[in-house]
Amino acid sequence: MERTWTNARLATMAGNGLGVIEDGVVAARDGVITYAGPRAGAPVATGESVDCGGRWITPGLIDCHTHLVHAGDRSGEWAMRLAGASYEEIARAGGGIVSTMRATRATSEADLVAIALPRLDALLAEGVTTIEIKSGYGLTVADELKMLRAARSLDDQRRVRVATTLLGAHALPPEYAGRPDDYVALVTEEMIPAANGLADAVDAFCEGIGFSPEQTGRVLAAARQAGLSVKLHAEQLSALHGASLAASFGALSADHLEYADEADAKAMAAAGTVAVLLPGAFYFMRETKLPPVDLFRAHHVPIAIATDCNPGTSPTTSLPLMLNMACILFRLSPEEALAGVTVHAARALGLTDRGIIATGLRADLVCWKIAEPAELAYRIGGDMNCGVVRGGRVAQWPS
Ligand code: NIG
Ligand code: FE
Repeated sequence: MERTWTNARLATMAGNGLGVIEDGVVAARDGVITYAGPRAGAPVATGESVDCGGRWITPGLIDCHTHLVHAGDRSGEWAMRLAGASYEEIARAGGGIVSTMRATRATSEADLVAIALPRLDALLAEGVTTIEIKSGYGLTVADELKMLRAARSLDDQRRVRVATTLLGAHALPPEYAGRPDDYVALVTEEMIPAANGLADAVDAFCEGIGFSPEQTGRVLAAARQAGLSVKLHAEQLSALHGASLAASFGALSADHLEYADEADAKAMAAAGTVAVLLPGAFYFMRETKLPPVDLFRAHHVPIAIATDCNPGTSPTTSLPLMLNMACILFRLSPEEALAGVTVHAARALGLTDRGIIATGLRADLVCWKIAEPAELAYRIGGDMNCGVVRGGRVAQWPS
């Protein structure tokens, strides 16, 4: 199947910056871009041709850090937090991640899929074409695999690329209370081997209320041994140098990073580890410690932005809203924010076939009704009314 989009302003995100091509044309065959450039050099369109009316086209957006698959609701605990209880206090009292774990364990794979679909649809409607989904609310071998299978099956349901991540070391399940090393052994010896084929990467929560750097190191080592990529929740609530640890394992990304320092930034730069910033969690936690964006810039650490969609710290399903928050809260430029959900987000997932608009890459495109690309980060949410092309197929087109 051949399709051509003409009369578009392209923000290809290739090279440094937006990579703008005025009066641009994109052609795709069988889901792959065959031409992206000015009209002057475009081949004659043979298949269906769409006039974009001068609108902007960007690469499909990539949400590279989510906990989209989960059951239950944490709005009651949020109300407690508003009344003064801390995230740590709630976690230590059996709430937090463990409360979502209970709900998720009690929910079938089919029901997890049904509950996750509306969340996925909200993201897709605003231009997401690739999404990462973590497990981490099952915390038994069977329940973690159930979550990964649910995440993988969303792939077929909506013809969207789902990258899956095993987050078995997310929290200590109550049945292992006082025996964290036994639980880490379950993760390294049983969960990681069992997740082979179902997970693209392995992640862990390196934190005082999660796992120590030493325990985290065992998880990441087992992942590498199994041939899986690694990512890490690091430096969210305290400085443990989890980001440096992740980098020492060649991690694709270290995520959150409010408490990261220059040593972490240098280690990440040397390893090519992407800094995934999660402004939704920063906002929802009323965090005041800003991630060291200037250090990441100074050391050329690529910065990605994601929703962190999860019931405890970032209950959002809007990636454009995260662009706004990244600019307002973290002082990213609109261009940096857009790179954070396209070219750098692809890198945070180790995906080399997407993230920019270029010949030979996947035809994942979004056509926006905006005056300038900065408008994508300017609006505080709202209906983006965009056209979305996933793998060359038109999934929606604005009126
Ligand atoms: O990315 N920090 C750990 N994991 C999630 C929160 C999970 C939860 O509270 O349910 C996060 O913020
Ligand atoms: Fe997270």
